[in-house]
Amino acid sequence: MTTTDLPPLRITHPRLHFAPRNNWMNDPNGLVFHDGLYHLYFQYNPQGVSHANMSWGHATSTDLIRWTEHDPAILWDEEAQIFSGSVVVDHGNTSGFGTAEEPALVALYTAAAAGRQAQALAYSTDGGYVWTKYQGNPVLDRGTSDFRDPKVFWFDDGRDAYWVMVAVEAVDRQVLFHRSDDLKTWTFLSSYGPAGPVGGVWECPDMFPLAVDGDDSDVRWVLLISLNPGGIAGGSGTHYIVGDFDGKIFRPTVPHPTSGRELLRERSQSREELEAYGWLDFGPDCYAGVTFDGLSRDERTLIAWMDNWEYAGSLPGDSDEYRSAMTLPRRLSLTRDQSGVLRLRQEPAIELEPAESVDLGSMTGSTVLTADPASATRIRFAATFGDAHNIELRIESASDDDLVVIRQDRMSGRIAIDRPGAEMPSGFASVPSMRLEEPGEIEWDLWIDQLNERVSSLELFAQSGERVLTALIPAASPRSYSVAVVGGALRRARATVAVVRY
Ligand code: FRU
Repeated sequence: MTTTDLPPLRITHPRLHFAPRNNWMNDPNGLVFHDGLYHLYFQYNPQGVSHANMSWGHATSTDLIRWTEHDPAILWDEEAQIFSGSVVVDHGNTSGFGTAEEPALVALYTAAAAGRQAQALAYSTDGGYVWTKYQGNPVLDRGTSDFRDPKVFWFDDGRDAYWVMVAVEAVDRQVLFHRSDDLKTWTFLSSYGPAGPVGGVWECPDMFPLAVDGDDSDVRWVLLISLNPGGIAGGSGTHYIVGDFDGKIFRPTVPHPTSGRELLRERSQSREELEAYGWLDFGPDCYAGVTFDGLSRDERTLIAWMDNWEYAGSLPGDSDEYRSAMTLPRRLSLTRDQSGVLRLRQEPAIELEPAESVDLGSMTGSTVLTADPASATRIRFAATFGDAHNIELRIESASDDDLVVIRQDRMSGRIAIDRPGAEMPSGFASVPSMRLEEPGEIEWDLWIDQLNERVSSLELFAQSGERVLTALIPAASPRSYSVAVVGGALRRARATVAVVRY
């Protein structure tokens, strides 16, 4: 299949999010920016709509909005399925697969066979389209059954420089660090965990440096760990830990009060306990997120799978054509919040113009923000609570049963999403929510897109992106959006709306 043979996108395909034209997709893999192109590889079944025959699909983009899908990049074979992993550009030709002038792209992925998972390598000398599996595979085998999801990056602290691989022993809830000079021979450095959220297996780790509030003299390392189940919103979720990495050992800035193997005996963790940890996203539909290699430190950009293993593949509207979409690309930064805690902040890495602003002043009652028949909508809403008790943003679609309500409550300082819908799978009964630090302020950046003919996606960036919530909702297009203020008035209310028409 060449790109031109691909079937056209359907009218109900997401407009701002990547989704494959056909077949099953899960985790993003091998995110890399190279020669002006963003490459997105992804867990892909080239033959159907279930999780099987795992291979790497491939798409490229110059702007992170419009994606061109290509032939699958790395195909499964009788020996192994191609599970998640990463891609680096081997600028120094350390692997010998390219040249210094024309560096090879090198993928490290998990070769998964029954009862055995090991890390394997493939390389591309044509810029990421055609891949060759390395003869000497696997390159890192511990003889275990759940060792997976290698994320590789070039570490250089001015004294020493080498490749570092971050991977998980999933069932043990451990992140393992290895180093290599040539991407083919790996030696063990250290491990992290079990610690923090351990209610499910650990998967798809990533680790990268970020400057605190842009201060280059205060650079910390962020370790991302996805876990399934045991996430803050139920099922799949991703938590993060801020710390230091000296090239060998990752040390959290604030050590977890409890860690060690004994944690694994107590599997269920309360909501209260989970809230004490750092969460990339408070919704149920942001999993296995990893960041691009090849961008500068202040352009660190993440894409995640916008789904949950609890119900992936059983959503209403799921056709026999394709399954799942990715989240919006998100630019990451690190900030110290009012209580001195280091927090990850996320901003959408794309823009949506033109946008229209309306000044709603001291708003009471309710008002329709937009009822345009749009396939994707972005609403920014900012205000300060006057004497109102709460504010609701209501999303109505053709069916009355599908009213979705986003509610911020002044007293509790929480935002919660009610998403009824009789047809939705059981995981949808949950009401995802998050607590804000400044409950008196309302600052929402809401992105809605369609996933298929029955389900839409909602990504809410609140409090300057320090709290993010991603949830699929039962809402078909077209939809209308209104705000309703309950129990009093808001102050300085302002809404900005941008739409993508059909
Ligand atoms: C995470 C995951 C990874 C694995 C891949 C298989 O969603 O379970 O751990 O590599 O999916 O498709």
